[in-house]
Amino acid sequence: MNILVLGSGGREHTFAYKIAQSDLCDSLFVAPGNAGTATIATNVPIAVTDFHTIKELVIEKNIKMVVVGPEDPLVKGISDFFKNDSELKDIVVIGPSKEGAQLEGSKEYAKEFLFRHNIPTAAYQSFTTETIEEGKKFLETLTSPYVLKADGLAAGKGVLILQDIDEAKAELENMLTNKKFGAASEKVVIEEFLDGIELSVFVLTDGKNYLTLPTAKDYKRIGEGDTGLNTGGMGAISPVPFADHTLMTKIEERIIKPTVEGLAKENIDYKGFIFIGLIKVGDDPKVIEYNVRMGDPETEVVLPRVKTDLVQLFQHVGNQSLSKINLELDQRSAATIVTVSGGYPETYEKGKEITGIDTIIDSIVFHAGTSLENGKVVTSGGRVLAITSFDEDFRKALKISYQNIEKLNFDKMYYRKDLGFDL
Ligand code: AMP
Ligand code: GLY
Repeated sequence: MNILVLGSGGREHTFAYKIAQSDLCDSLFVAPGNAGTATIATNVPIAVTDFHTIKELVIEKNIKMVVVGPEDPLVKGISDFFKNDSELKDIVVIGPSKEGAQLEGSKEYAKEFLFRHNIPTAAYQSFTTETIEEGKKFLETLTSPYVLKADGLAAGKGVLILQDIDEAKAELENMLTNKKFGAASEKVVIEEFLDGIELSVFVLTDGKNYLTLPTAKDYKRIGEGDTGLNTGGMGAISPVPFADHTLMTKIEERIIKPTVEGLAKENIDYKGFIFIGLIKVGDDPKVIEYNVRMGDPETEVVLPRVKTDLVQLFQHVGNQSLSKINLELDQRSAATIVTVSGGYPETYEKGKEITGIDTIIDSIVFHAGTSLENGKVVTSGGRVLAITSFDEDFRKALKISYQNIEKLNFDKMYYRKDLGFDL
């Protein structure tokens, strides 16, 4: 079978890496891909939201399965585009319908879904420019810190956590009236602050059945000790050491099952990943957010631990027969560390030559922001490489990745040296 992966980050390199290992895969294409995917697949320079050109490629190359990496094409309805096209309707698309993708595309939609299905989450109310004064009054009923969320997609930047009530009111004004996050903040969700430790669970569902994939924890802040600006993610480990059997049973019963059942009950077409951001408050898990895709860099630790053939899993998603699968996992821990361009997540330079990748043998180097220029691998994004290692002990896995990063070099390379510090 010929397969297409959409996206160009570390997540998509990891998908391509696993798919390329499958006997079920004949030709693998990645659009647009990066220098890493170019070594195992054919990169095609098509944007992930250019559905018409994607269709042309799918037909020309006889592609039978499309794996959607990022949320953007999902929220824009790529699954529906395939389903409603007579030439594309039988192609397996891994990624939910436009309606299902609203779980990530709108914070308010997600909160309403959570409440409809009695899934534990923070109390909230949502506001628009018309109800800004009520929003300020609602803030007064809460205690510091205050959580303000732009309703729509804001490239991971739409959540503000503020200590001071006046600052919270000013930011509410800024988001609604001044459209701080553009159209994404035409509506703002104000939430109760939840105090606890975060983890993520990943679910693969065919709309009826589901498999719980390994848990992971990522490190979002740029600075050591979880300080500074938020990034897409500076590293991750899997499994999460504190996600024991008791906690996982609660997560499964109170969160995963009602989520999948809720989607089915509401006839929401959902074949793909659900990435559930959780916070453990005391002994109880609560949902912070849904994403309708895998995480990045979480994918770089979750998928390498899945031993079951990924293409086979996806075929079962397509046929709604996931219940037939017994998921086989590597019981070792995996850790990944992301090297980034100096300056990220603010402005940074691109086009820096990367050396040392070929010298690494006991870690997997997943490319994120890289491209090929005159046969050389150069930086082309903020997050550049993710270095994944395994060991029985996650601390040792981290150590192996750290040792291997020493062999890598590009101008102004930066990475956090403290991953796992909080565990
Ligand atoms: P989100 O984009 O919804 O994942 O939010 C980004 C980050 O903000 C999360 O990873 C949490 O660290 C934090 N956060 C979001 N909602 C809350 C909340 N209700 N209480 C505490 N922290 C939160
Ligand atoms: N690492 C967080 C995300 O993928 O949303």
